Amino acid sequence: MRIDIITIFPDYFTPLELSLIGKARRSGLLDVRLHDLRSWTYDRHNTVDDSPYGGGPGMVMKPEPWGEALDAVSAAVPAASPRLILPTPSGLPFTQADAGRLAGEPWLVFACGRYEGIDSRVAADAALRMPVEEISIGDYVLNGGESATLVMVEAISRLLPGVLGNADSVAQDSFAPGLMDNLVEGPVYTKPPAWRGQEVPPVLLSGNHGAVDRWRRDEALRKTARNRPELLDRLDPERLDRRDREV
Ligand code: ADE
Repeated sequence: MRIDIITIFPDYFTPLELSLIGKARRSGLLDVRLHDLRSWTYDRHNTVDDSPYGGGPGMVMKPEPWGEALDAVSAAVPAASPRLILPTPSGLPFTQADAGRLAGEPWLVFACGRYEGIDSRVAADAALRMPVEEISIGDYVLNGGESATLVMVEAISRLLPGVLGNADSVAQDSFAPGLMDNLVEGPVYTKPPAWRGQEVPPVLLSGNHGAVDRWRRDEALRKTARNRPELLDRLDPERLDRRDREV
């Protein structure tokens, strides 16, 4: 998968050199390219923003550098066009299902806005040539799209085949499609079996895989009920068994 990121802070993305994503990049599973928006400015101050029409606080990102940047980046692969992701608090909520869907795309471009956002004509113009999605990572406001892009790139790239050591772990994650749809994971334990007066639940030491699976599902249901009760209404009734209903 290829990912292009356009930003005024390319240095923000040095974490993508680390850990599993860094390894995936070095092994060629993931091709991440960073672009400084200011390379498409031509004035002495490399201006990327201006005051908003209609007045109000803050600054808005100018359309011209973004238009040129998106033209150049989206033309990098002949006969292909990327999917453009615009991180913004006003976008559609980002979910694990989106991460899975976007992991199936060959090429994504992230356009990181700052200040009060990017002039709205940029998204409308890009949509004439490529699919465009405005996405929010949560109901809070960040200083720009950079950290939201880091979050999405990590959630997407860990789903690419070969990026995680153990492919099974993805299927058991919170929100994973299938078994963990609309569920968060319950508690996890490792050695030692007793620590500071707390014992590991004996079922996990029993070697009975059926009982362990049942316990994990019960705990996931309990934790979801406690921390995310609104998700319980979205559980697929077809997938619930009698034991699920008792929890
Ligand atoms: N930019 C600023 N806040 C954001 C958010 N919550 N999600 C995505 N992009 C953002």
